[in-house]
Amino acid sequence: MERTVMQLNVGIVGVTGYTGQELLRRLRSHPEVRLSYLAARRLARPEPVGRLLPAFAKQALPKIERFDPAAAARQCDLLFLALPHGLSMEIVPALRKRQPEIHLIDLGGDFRLRSAAGFRKAYGLTHRAAPLLGKAVYGLPEWFREVIQGAELLANPGCYPTATALALAPLARAEKIGGPVVVDAKSGVSGAGRSVKPELSFCEVNEGMRPYKVDRHQHQPEMEQTLGRIGRQSPRILFAPHLIPVNRGLIASCYVPLKGKLTQSGLRALFEAAYDKEPFVRLLPEGSWPDTAAVNQTNFCDIGLAIAQTGKQAIVISAIDNLGKGAAGQAVQNMNLMFGFPETMALT
Ligand SMILES: NC(=O)c1ccc[n+]([C@@H]2O[C@H](COP(=O)([O-])OP(=O)(O)OC[C@H]3O[C@@H](n4cnc5c(N)ncnc54)[C@H](OP(=O)(O)O)[C@@H]3O)[C@@H](O)[C@H]2O)c1
Repeated sequence: MERTVMQLNVGIVGVTGYTGQELLRRLRSHPEVRLSYLAARRLARPEPVGRLLPAFAKQALPKIERFDPAAAARQCDLLFLALPHGLSMEIVPALRKRQPEIHLIDLGGDFRLRSAAGFRKAYGLTHRAAPLLGKAVYGLPEWFREVIQGAELLANPGCYPTATALALAPLARAEKIGGPVVVDAKSGVSGAGRSVKPELSFCEVNEGMRPYKVDRHQHQPEMEQTLGRIGRQSPRILFAPHLIPVNRGLIASCYVPLKGKLTQSGLRALFEAAYDKEPFVRLLPEGSWPDTAAVNQTNFCDIGLAIAQTGKQAIVISAIDNLGKGAAGQAVQNMNLMFGFPETMALT
């Protein structure tokens, strides 16, 4: 494997997809990284990056080739898997067999849930690498930083679960959640990936807004699992995701029945204790609510909160870029932690 002094050899599989391109954008300016391997699927022969992704033309990058586990294992210390779910669980064991020291960050859902039964229920697939589910580290830095630092196989959280967990975790930790939480979330169309689907074409999406997979979305168990690990109970989530006609950006409005009394200042104190020192979570001033325009193209999560006028519910609203903190930005943040680089390196 060719190495430059001290630089990490990093590859991306799925580089032609939306999250893959975002990874490329962030990693090519990362001073500790040498991009050594780029791969996708539909390629008869290796192609210059600029041929497939014109925005990256005239940059010193390896050609994009058809994914081959042997080549990836040979050329990378760390490989990002930015693939549709169901593929990584086949690929990860093959890569680890070829190169046991390889580090892997999976942006899909294959290694996020702890149980194979839970995975089957959420994704409708039998897990092909179930023994690895207990070994994968869930990469939400604000809550699991210490274990991320030693991770070799990292499951990068989903976009909706990132926004929802960051909005609810301080309440879960304080055991203030008194019943099912309603999460009403909206995401831009890039959240569904780049592959062509008729229901996602311009005319089908533009000028409309629609819920989908209401109370049946595969991210729902991931949210419940995360909150259950942070607090002592996992609150039930009633989740209604919506598709909205923007390219990117995700907002999660969470309505939380409270257990016990909580004042506005008490609510804020819980969130300040959790996030004051966090580089990528911004607590908005009282009366302000997040806007996806302020977080798009960044790794920030903005959070607004209030006690409802009933006094019995908290309302917490979070916004992220689904491709930033919801995917590639968070994946780079996790890489920084795994390899001891400054956590904010190459991220804004
Ligand atoms: N989009 C988001 O906002 C978002 C947020 C968080 C997490 N995620 C997760 O991240 C993963 C990637 O999402 P995405 O939106 O980037 O998907 P995408 O735009 O559809 O891209 C998928 C990529 O995977 C490649 N690919 C597909 N099958 C392959 C195979 N058999 N071997 C090698 N490469 C293959 C595609 O290559 P070709 O172009 O050659 O087909 C493409 O580069 C998904 O699991 C998704 O759930 C997405």
